Amino acid sequence: TWTIGNIAEEQIARIREQVGPDGRAICGLSGGVDSAVAAAIVQKAIGDRLTCVYVDHGLMRKGETEQIERDFVAATGAKLVIVDAEKQFLDALAGTSEPEAKRKIIGREFIRAFEGAELEVIKDAPEGTKVGFLVQGTLYPDIVESGHGAGTSTIKSHHNVGGLPEDLEFELVEPLRELFKDEVRAVGAQLGLPNVIVQRQPFPGPGLGIRIIGEVTRERLDILREADAIAREEMTAAGLDGDIWQMPVVLLADVRSVGVQGDGRTYGHPVVLRPVTSEDAMTADWARLPYEVLEKISTRITNEVAEVNRVTVDITSKPPGTIEWE
Ligand code: XMP
Repeated sequence: TWTIGNIAEEQIARIREQVGPDGRAICGLSGGVDSAVAAAIVQKAIGDRLTCVYVDHGLMRKGETEQIERDFVAATGAKLVIVDAEKQFLDALAGTSEPEAKRKIIGREFIRAFEGAELEVIKDAPEGTKVGFLVQGTLYPDIVESGHGAGTSTIKSHHNVGGLPEDLEFELVEPLRELFKDEVRAVGAQLGLPNVIVQRQPFPGPGLGIRIIGEVTRERLDILREADAIAREEMTAAGLDGDIWQMPVVLLADVRSVGVQGDGRTYGHPVVLRPVTSEDAMTADWARLPYEVLEKISTRITNEVAEVNRVTVDITSKPPGTIEWE
């Protein structure tokens, strides 16, 4: 009979066979549920011959990198390399405000940072290893959408960083390719991953970089991280995490408005709360959050984040709005 336990066991056996007795695999962790569960399955299959790589682009929410470092490793025992690339990303993003330009820069820098880590992993591999394995958290719906059939695909990775200047070949390992999202969560829970990972709401790859309207700077990221952490804390405290799809918090960094606080005039930035309900992110409705929760979030953000003096709520559905502001 079909059980979540069988799914994991079957995939573990299949991956052991695919990677063989001395193959090496690398898996990029994004902080999301898919890559974490994929990595956990492969770790069970081949242990330390898997290296997980987390590129810290400096665009994550408060505490997320530490969560990966601590909770993921504690739950799986996986070998984890964290690439501290914050400066690299912020330098590359300096002066850019246009959303698609930001996405391109973030994507390009991500590949650079990840390829640097690939080289380290390959350097450790036994003499004569030509092919590495690249773990990807591709789900069944992704495969159906892109029209890929079953089979083994390889990708080439071109390295222009120092060290070995050659092309590497990676064979894809896709432990989730037969699963839907809810099954991925169930497998993750069964493998002992904590709820903060398994029940995590969607978060975009470019991170807070596309939630700062305007240029991305370290200072602006810190402001948004504080506001976002408060909003998430209050949503969790109110027990609302399961009722919404996600709630981006957006910093209108180029906008200022006048306010008054204590005995003085303020001239700060607005943040936008963007709570939505959705089935698949293709369409979305703005979530009718309880006024008391909105009030709490607004009071706390304006009290605790000095640079923010106004909190607004986005009441646009998708379409015509997208979920993210960029
Ligand atoms: P939109 O804004 O298009 O978002 O309504 C739909 C869903 O996709 C997420 N999103 C992204 N995810 N890279 C990602 O990995 C991106 O560039 C990106 N842009 C949007 C968004 O958070 C929502 O869940």
